[in-house]
Amino acid sequence: MSGHRVLQNQSRCFLLVTLVTLPVPIITGCGSPVVHYPAQLVFPPRADRLVLQLPTQAPLKENTAGRLDEEIAALDSLGGRTVEPQSLAEADRDALNQFLTATFGTPAAPQTISESLKLTRDHLREGARLYKTKCFDCHNLTGDGRGAKAGQFVVPFPRDYRQGAFKFVTSGEGMKPRRSDLLRTIHHGLPGTAMPAFSLLEPGERDLLAGYVMFLSLRGQIEFEGLHAAAEGRPFQPAERLSTLLREWEHADAAPPLPTPPDDGDYDSPRFHEAVRRGYRLFTAKTENSCISCHEDFGRKPVLRYDVWGTVAKPANFTETTLKGGKEPQDVYARIRFGIAPVGMPAHPPTQYTDREVWDLVRFVTSIPYPVRLPPDVHDAIYPNAK
Ligand code: HEC
Ligand code: HEC
Repeated sequence: MSGHRVLQNQSRCFLLVTLVTLPVPIITGCGSPVVHYPAQLVFPPRADRLVLQLPTQAPLKENTAGRLDEEIAALDSLGGRTVEPQSLAEADRDALNQFLTATFGTPAAPQTISESLKLTRDHLREGARLYKTKCFDCHNLTGDGRGAKAGQFVVPFPRDYRQGAFKFVTSGEGMKPRRSDLLRTIHHGLPGTAMPAFSLLEPGERDLLAGYVMFLSLRGQIEFEGLHAAAEGRPFQPAERLSTLLREWEHADAAPPLPTPPDDGDYDSPRFHEAVRRGYRLFTAKTENSCISCHEDFGRKPVLRYDVWGTVAKPANFTETTLKGGKEPQDVYARIRFGIAPVGMPAHPPTQYTDREVWDLVRFVTSIPYPVRLPPDVHDAIYPNAK
């Protein structure tokens, strides 16, 4: 925020305080340039299409910035199935909306959802305020990822939280993220995408933001599933579903910690090189669903696929140094062990790979961009033209 805007806000505030006697809560907000959502603003009912089924064919190209809704609508002609909320029975939509408003409140006055997850009025109110200034432009009011200021101009599109799905989790296969996973994303951003690193915020501020993301995600997922059920003529109990979802978020936080990486020595030690070699062999194995079948040519020729949002996911290019979810060994371990459920990257449970094998894959994947870390035979296989 520029100094100019801050000054403007403060002088306006000063004027108000001197001219009228304002209620205390508003006066205490005066020193801060952050303005809250207007009190009368409500969360609008979902209007964009729900993706009920993905096309069976793989996508031909990546998404185009600013064309999210057109590209979702086009899924029907490609063998997928989408539905417009407006086409569903009004009574179903009204009932769902009433539940959502009564349970979650409004942007300026969110309701307590869970004490144990710190989703309380006070936390959420502060979280909403921060979200409005830091995240709204991309992730938008309801967390639909359609922010008019910036969200419309970037690919990959900002996350739509309303399906309750997240990519970068360390909790387990297909599980909700831990709070610390959201905090990691907010702190470090997602390199190679528009998602910025908010490393300059106070830890407490990032925590409030993580809580608010959970809140929007819970609200959005209940709405999504309620509309989905209405589209299929199924009954839906939003209150029961909400308690199940809250338990899922709690389970994620209680998941066991990740194992610590083995000591493989320095990058140029024979032990490290052996690990990289073993990882290379696993990565390129000629088995169904091996890494190389999606991350073709080590990711230089990614095999595109639809993700749960109906948008196009691109398998990572490991010859580049950016890894969205972090390049610490444990970050990469979590990706490989638990997969990335929303994009269909499979998990690799202990029945398939031992911990040692996952670490071998980690050593290999994180060494690809750094030729000095690669044993000569592996180097030549990845960079055949470099000699
Ligand atoms: C300039 C646009 C932009 C802003 C501002 C922004 N984000 Fe994002 N965010 C993104 C994009 C783009 C992605 C998805 C990247 C991808 O899927 O590859 C994303 C993804 C996420 C995710 C999903 C991570 C996962 O595991 O799937 C979270 C959580 C998130 N952002 C939180 C926030 C929060 C909180 C803020 C504000 C403090 C914020 N973002 C601000 C663009 C933005
Ligand atoms: C069915 C296809 C598929 C298979 C098989 C697959 N992946 Fe992926 N992988 C993906 C997609 C798609 C992404 C990109 C997710 C995103 O950024 O949206 C990805 C991302 C990743 C990432 C995260 C990169 C980041 O930006 O943080 C790692 C690490 C990874 N894959 C490793 C592997 C390894 C190792 C294997 C084999 C054990 C493997 N993948 C098998 C599809 C696949």
